[in-house]
Amino acid sequence: MGDGTSETKSSNQMWGGRFAQGPAAIMEEINASIGFDKKLFAQDIRGSIAHATMLAHQGIISAEDKDKIVHGLDTILSEIESGQFEFSRRLEDIHMNVEARLATLIGPAAGRLHTARSRNDQVALDFRLWVKEELQKCEQMLTDLIAAFLDRAEEHAETVMPGFTHLQTAQPVTFGHHCMAYVEMFGRDRSRVRHAIEHMDESPIGAAALAGTGFPIDRHMTAKALGFREPTRNSIDTVSDRDFALEFLAIASICAVHLSRLAEEIVIWSTPQFGFVRLSDAFSTGSSIMPQKKNPDAAELVRAKTGRINGSLIALLTVMKGLPLAYSKDMQEDKEQVFDSAESLELAIAAMTGMVRDLDVRADRMKAAAGSGYSTATDLADWLVREAGLPFRDAHHVTGRAVALAEQKACELAELSLEDLQAIHADITDKVFDVLTVEASVASRTSFGGTAPSEVRKQIAWWRGRN
Ligand code: ARG
Repeated sequence: MGDGTSETKSSNQMWGGRFAQGPAAIMEEINASIGFDKKLFAQDIRGSIAHATMLAHQGIISAEDKDKIVHGLDTILSEIESGQFEFSRRLEDIHMNVEARLATLIGPAAGRLHTARSRNDQVALDFRLWVKEELQKCEQMLTDLIAAFLDRAEEHAETVMPGFTHLQTAQPVTFGHHCMAYVEMFGRDRSRVRHAIEHMDESPIGAAALAGTGFPIDRHMTAKALGFREPTRNSIDTVSDRDFALEFLAIASICAVHLSRLAEEIVIWSTPQFGFVRLSDAFSTGSSIMPQKKNPDAAELVRAKTGRINGSLIALLTVMKGLPLAYSKDMQEDKEQVFDSAESLELAIAAMTGMVRDLDVRADRMKAAAGSGYSTATDLADWLVREAGLPFRDAHHVTGRAVALAEQKACELAELSLEDLQAIHADITDKVFDVLTVEASVASRTSFGGTAPSEVRKQIAWWRGRN
């Protein structure tokens, strides 16, 4: 399209009337967004087709001009999709690149497309459409990740592992229960995504520069044509608002934090010291020097992506914080943050879904670890409350002494003799040994949301009904 160097000298063809000269080279460089907003081409063209169709329907432009515009826009769409379109930095952004090409293709009718419209509502529309589609994609990807966890949870509803607090052995839990914790986390992410789609489901087009327009446009018609619930209600807010982008980044940040915590657990679990899981070859790498190594690179990169995504949220919040109403060019800095985060988030969710599906769970290692570290001490204390009628605080004290003794003898609680235990509290009987196994411990925790396999299966069924 562009005609080389002469372009930079002449004034802009969109607003040239007011200007005697073209921009300084550095002005063009700082001003142009085409390098990244070309990603919005499909949304831009869809928006323009809906706008032109509405203009004709309202008698603002002729049906003939509308047909030319729509036909020209369709041509441009296929030119861009097939890589034939030449983007020009002099034309600043996607909106002006498309409009200038339209003028070349169809002549003066192209000039009627921008009636009752500004790039301010146009960019708000294009970007909103893009973010909405991205959120819909994330919703589906989170559903796939949740499904992967539900399958693993079902398979491992009875697999015991140590539960941790402070990364110290706390109480035995099941691996299925642990998987379901992630289902809850990603389930919340998914409902945040759904709410954000609801929030943003309003069409900006027709707000024009900021004040609306005197042309008899029908914003309900364009809203409907573009798949929005309704038009936005305040034209000033419409061109000033980037909440939808901020919400996307906030949701992406929280989700990335969840993915990162999972990544961290996978890194820890796959060490030889823990050995709870083995990574599949598909999601790990070797070392160029140490032949024995299998590194959790994918998990580590998922953990690292969180930095970029959280950074993007802070960047855009900072861009927006001092802006007076309505549009300011600062807002052009919204897109790269969102594009980069979307790409990172999609990669991270997809990699995690694959890793979770492929994870080789070593139930034997988990079980051995579940029984160590006095993980059933609480069960002993609970037994003293239930069977010997002790107040919990006293039972806690008695159990503490039993743990100290076991530590001294370098054995597990269940390996202490009945005499040892009775020396600490006379009411202890041999029945106590029934509650000191990890299986008994998890099976006993049947409170709503607890770790008992029966309870975990109920939670799985609840989620299956909601996918
Ligand atoms: N490229 C611009 C952006 O991304 C489009 C809107 C420009 N509007 C304006 N009045 N200069 O924000």
